[in-house]
Amino acid sequence: MTLERNGEGHLRRIRSFVRRPGRLTPAQQRALDTLLPRYELDLALADVRDAFERSAPLVMEIGFGNGEALVAMASAEPGFNFVGVEVHEPGVGRALRAIHAAELVNVRVAMRDAVELLARQVRPGSLEQVRIYFPDPWPKKRHHKRRIIQPEFVGALATAIGSGGLLHLATDWAPYAEWMLEVLDQCDAFSNLGHPYVERPEWRPQTRFERRGQGRGHEIFDLLFARR
Ligand SMILES: C[S@@+](CC[C@H](N)C(=O)[O-])C[C@H]1O[C@@H](n2cnc3c(N)ncnc32)[C@H](O)[C@@H]1O
Repeated sequence: MTLERNGEGHLRRIRSFVRRPGRLTPAQQRALDTLLPRYELDLALADVRDAFERSAPLVMEIGFGNGEALVAMASAEPGFNFVGVEVHEPGVGRALRAIHAAELVNVRVAMRDAVELLARQVRPGSLEQVRIYFPDPWPKKRHHKRRIIQPEFVGALATAIGSGGLLHLATDWAPYAEWMLEVLDQCDAFSNLGHPYVERPEWRPQTRFERRGQGRGHEIFDLLFARR
């Protein structure tokens, strides 16, 4: 999403996440071993829409954490297919267990960098919605380049989302909410449906990071944009 030169002048990718070797519980490890093959988005597919048994409008949740919102949304909105994207293995393990327990047939999981997934397996205009809830705020100025919401990434989302589709963001970090508004404001492909924020749409369940922010007294911001 962002490229930076290292000391020797080589370009390196700046990622919005740090891979921490999180401790997997035995249950999460079992879920990765036995359930990931069943629910994982096949890397060989050229079009993410082909991963589902039936055709339906497709919603992508990026950075689903432990998957509680993904599972709640896929249960509550059976008319959509969902693809959840997350790099954190313990979270994916938890999500897989919940997806399986709920017997959901409309969810696929990609344990990969969303930037790469968008570039490789998402055809232009093929997503109905993208939902990104409480992305890492990277509060220090020198880390702002790690924020997932960047002009280049928003450009990739604009390509992926079909006309009339939606981009829904939420954060508990006020400076990041302003940053999101600025970046989206610079992208002609999206129009803001809020003034500038919206009330929490009923389709967004509470998430772990939302509760954490609220526990710290943070205000919650929902941002909703339509693809022109
Ligand atoms: C602060 S957490 C929020 C998790 C969840 N949405 C919630 O509200 O509880 C942000 C998550 O985004 C994931 N993430 C960050 N960049 C990502 C990327 N490029 N592709 C996939 N996941 C990413 C991180 O691993 C992390 O779990």
